[in-house]
Amino acid sequence: MSNLDPEKIPRHVAIIPDGNGRWAEARNLPRNEGHRKGVENVREIVRACSELGIRMLTLYAFSQENWDRPRDEVKAIMRLLSRYLRTEAEELIENGIRVGAIGRLEQLDSRVQRDLERLIRRTEQNDQMRVTFALSYSGRTEIVDAVRQIVRAVESGCLDPDAIDEKCVEAHLYARDLPDPDLLIRTGHESRISNFLLWQLAYTELYVCESLWPDFGKPELVKALLAYQNRERRFGRTSAQLRREP
Ligand code: FPP
Repeated sequence: MSNLDPEKIPRHVAIIPDGNGRWAEARNLPRNEGHRKGVENVREIVRACSELGIRMLTLYAFSQENWDRPRDEVKAIMRLLSRYLRTEAEELIENGIRVGAIGRLEQLDSRVQRDLERLIRRTEQNDQMRVTFALSYSGRTEIVDAVRQIVRAVESGCLDPDAIDEKCVEAHLYARDLPDPDLLIRTGHESRISNFLLWQLAYTELYVCESLWPDFGKPELVKALLAYQNRERRFGRTSAQLRREP
């Protein structure tokens, strides 16, 4: 950890916390036990990110595609989520953490929606760190919803089609007030994006690790940050160009 360069801590880290099911299956436990451990680990990693000075953390907690899982598993995840949202407020407030959410939130159970709205409201004054949960989220749907809003604005005469540029599209995304992630961590070994932040990940550094989400602790997070700090982010330019810049 002492090897981390405090000047190069990524501002925004996104995580795909994969592997809860495999963690449980490897122990002959029901998959939901893996999700329970997974939620506990969210608590640990939020704490660790806050200690390490990461200003923004976005977690892919439940994708739109996850609705197709067995009914009992979806119900168990919703229950765990609701409990998390109800029990975390004190610690989040104590640590100055503001909670947000992205996704088609209206599709969530009404109880989860209520708990989420309450937590967002209770933490909205906090400014030390932002934790955003992607819930009922799909990157493609986020773009579709943005396109719909833009088309409506054009139809109503409020927007000139020639004024549609990247900034305009970004302004209609769910995560419009968050900068693009600097680092995306995916636990559980699979090397794919799985429909997460498709627009925003354009120049994000990707880091995939073997650890299953319940096993991904602060030491693994530090390892990911060290790997990130050794990357050269060129954004399409050459190394020589980067060296010439102050
Ligand atoms: C990933 O493991 C887990 C999910 C897709 C859903 C549940 C997510 C959590 C419980 C963590 C986030 C929690 C909060 C409070 C925001 P998987 O079931 O896909 O694992 P597998 O790939 O091993 O089957």
